[in-house]
Order: sequence, then C-alpha cells, then structure tokens
Amino acid sequence: MDAPRRVLFVCLGNICRSPTAEGIFRHLAEAEGLSTLFEVDSAGTGSWHIGEPPDARMTRAAREAGYRLQGLARQVRGSDFARFHHIFAMDRANLEVLRQRAPTEHLPKIRLFRDHDPDGAGLDVPDPYYGGDEGFAEVVRIVERTSRALLETLRAETP
Ligand code: 4NP
Repeated sequence: MDAPRRVLFVCLGNICRSPTAEGIFRHLAEAEGLSTLFEVDSAGTGSWHIGEPPDARMTRAAREAGYRLQGLARQVRGSDFARFHHIFAMDRANLEVLRQRAPTEHLPKIRLFRDHDPDGAGLDVPDPYYGGDEGFAEVVRIVERTSRALLETLRAETP
C-alpha cells in the first residue's frame, strides 16, 4: 500500500470551516472505502482558538447532517508546507496568508477549496462565526458538495 496522500484544510480559527471540511472529507472517504488512501487534518492561520474543540454551533449543524467533528484547534506551522501534499484554503483571505507564509517550492500545492465546488469555483466558504444558525447549515452544504467533488478528483490523481 502506498503512503497516504496528506490533505490539510485551513481557515482562520480552525473551529468552524476547516474542521467541518476535515470531518466531512474523512467521512466521505471512509464511506467509499478510501480511508487508507488519505490522511486528513485541519488548521487555522490565526492563533485565537488554539486548543479549543470545534465551535458548538458548527458541531451541531454537522451532526444534524450526519457528520462528526473532532480534534482541537491548532495553528498552521512551517512544517505543514512540506508535510502535506494538498493544502486547501477555505477562503481567499486565508489563501493569501498561506501563500505569503509558504516556501516558494510549496506554493503549487496551496489552492482554494471551492475551486472544486461545481456550483461555486472561486468563491469563499462564508465565515459563519458572527452569524446565525443558517450560516452554519450553509457551510455544511457547501463543504459536503465540494468535498464530494474533491474526493473524486484526488482519487483520480492518486497513483
Ligand atoms: P473559522 O471561523 O475560521 O471557520 O474557524 C472563525 C472562528 C473564529 C473567528 C473567526 C472565524 N474569530 O474571529 O475568532
């Protein structure tokens, strides 16, 4: 068995959008019998929420759709750029931050998550933190749709 492809999802706080992408992508990979093919993680560009579990509102919205969120928030570290094969930013602001921090040779692996969204290439996953419950449900819908497409793309690319 080849070594797993390592996939990192990155948002600002690592308590809403990126843990949702981590949980949903992992769930979908397991459901397709592909769990050994991918190692999935998430991180934030910011430091405010380090060590915290995913936001309770985000966890509830994900659970209502059948997904379990796990892990504690951490910040992106320099070693992530070499370690991961694919790094997906949940919005364009965090994409820019990642591009500024990454060594040049690793820039090609940093991409916008929603560039894989069949209904929203080039768009952000909206930050739900200061909004109401509907914003969290919307994150789940976007992430689910995009993760399905992303899984198919990465599966096809993986040797
Ligand atoms: P996330 O959401 O980046 O999707 O985890 C946020 C979490 C916290 C904050 C902003 C966005 N904050 O300002 O503390």
